[in-house]
Amino acid sequence: MSRGGFVTFEGIDGAGKSSHVAGAAAWLRARGLDVLETREPGGTELAERIRGLVLTFEMEPLTEALLVFAARHDHVERVVRPALARGQWVVCDRFTDSSFVYQGDGRGLARTDLTWLAARAHPGLLPDRTYWFDLPPAQAAERVADRAAADRFESEQLAFFERVAAGYARIAHAEPKRVLRIDGALPRERVAAAIETDLSDLLVVVGAADA
Ligand SMILES: Nc1ncnc2c1ncn2[C@@H]1O[C@H](COP(=O)(O)OP(=O)(O)OP(=O)(O)O)[C@@H](O)[C@H]1O
Ligand SMILES: [Mg+2]
Repeated sequence: MSRGGFVTFEGIDGAGKSSHVAGAAAWLRARGLDVLETREPGGTELAERIRGLVLTFEMEPLTEALLVFAARHDHVERVVRPALARGQWVVCDRFTDSSFVYQGDGRGLARTDLTWLAARAHPGLLPDRTYWFDLPPAQAAERVADRAAADRFESEQLAFFERVAAGYARIAHAEPKRVLRIDGALPRERVAAAIETDLSDLLVVVGAADA
């Protein structure tokens, strides 16, 4: 049995992540792979409940970080690691990069603290590939402007998303092998094509090319 791959989607609110998660999963399934689609915060009953708290209650930045990492630990232990161990592919809407940029760059928590939390919450687990949807914050805000009720993140000012976007750019620069920048301003078909081309390469790297 070939091992599964772990693929994550990142980017500011409205950049286009969720629009492409199902398409990427379907593309992998069409190649005979067993794929699990999931999201963060969330992916387990407990983590989904924590998501509800984080998106609605006012709280200190450290409280927020502890909650998202608690949700992540539950999700990783109960869902992500078991799936990878079974040889499944895991396609996840947001993962730890989101914490570095939202709780770190956005809310101002120290990167060393987040690094420690990540090391405790999911030791040794890094995505094989991360698609970073890069879109100017003003454009992303326009896309989500008509959402019925903005959550605690969606209601942040543009300056918050500028910091978050800069955080993503920093991570992509530091880890060019893992993180692929996707131009979020491209039409959907072009975005999908860029992801599919890259997934073809990833199948070879992960060793699932003729699965
Ligand atoms: N390439 C694209 N061109 C134009 N509009 C797009 C594109 N991709 C997505 N959209 C639209 O932009 C909006 C936001 O997309 P989506 O929900 O996928 O973003 P997201 O990154 O998942 O946001 P969030 O972090 O808030 O969940 C949706 O209305 C979607 O239909
Ligand atoms: Mg989304």
